[in-house]
Amino acid sequence: MSKAPVITVDGPSGTGKGTVCSVLATKLQWHLLDSGALYRVVAYTAERRGVALDDESALAAIAVSLDLKFENRGPGEDNKTILEASDVSQPIRSEKCGNAASRVAALPTVREALLQRQRQFRQMPGLIADGRDMGTHVFSDAELKIFLTASAEERAKRRYKQLKEKGINVNLRDLSADIAERDRRDKERIVSPLKPAEDAIVIDTTMCDVNAVNRQIFSLVQNRFADLAAFV
Ligand code: C5P
Repeated sequence: MSKAPVITVDGPSGTGKGTVCSVLATKLQWHLLDSGALYRVVAYTAERRGVALDDESALAAIAVSLDLKFENRGPGEDNKTILEASDVSQPIRSEKCGNAASRVAALPTVREALLQRQRQFRQMPGLIADGRDMGTHVFSDAELKIFLTASAEERAKRRYKQLKEKGINVNLRDLSADIAERDRRDKERIVSPLKPAEDAIVIDTTMCDVNAVNRQIFSLVQNRFADLAAFV
């Protein structure tokens, strides 16, 4: 049987990947993988169990054994994240957890431990995969690869608005510094660093609102998957 088609959407935080992916998955009725949530849940579990963020073997053991499930909450929304029967959707979205996730994500054995789990999301009729290395590594044979960028300033503003809307208290200056630190760590790590795949289409969203980005992506999808032409 042939493999399910995959659309990868990679890029740094604050580029609007999450919203675009959720809308796209709903429109196409495809599965959605929010790979960042996996790294966040590993970091969250480590903190709760008192595991240090540089204890690579303990962190990899957490990554292998996560009892984790995602539930779709509809277009534009994050998935509901259920860890060992508790809803952790809100706590894993904090900046602290995002930062810890990026430290955990730099460890090769943790990435390896999460690889098969991510690939299991590839099921019919298709998958939208949101992350940093979806197109370069996890689904390097994806049918369509998109890489979203935006200026660091614009991304910080968007994250600020998004977190405020979720009731998470943040300060723009701290947030900008956190984002810069996370970008640096994600780009400089040895395994699967953040970069566009050679065959990715790069879209700079600095000057675009979310609807314009969605339209641009829908038209790429329509061109790539002619049989889905009726969906837009
Ligand atoms: O996308 P999100 O902000 O939830 O990701 C949290 C962190 O997880 C990122 O800063 C990055 O370090 C890591 N990550 C990764 N590879 C992915 C997805 C996320 O390294 N595919």
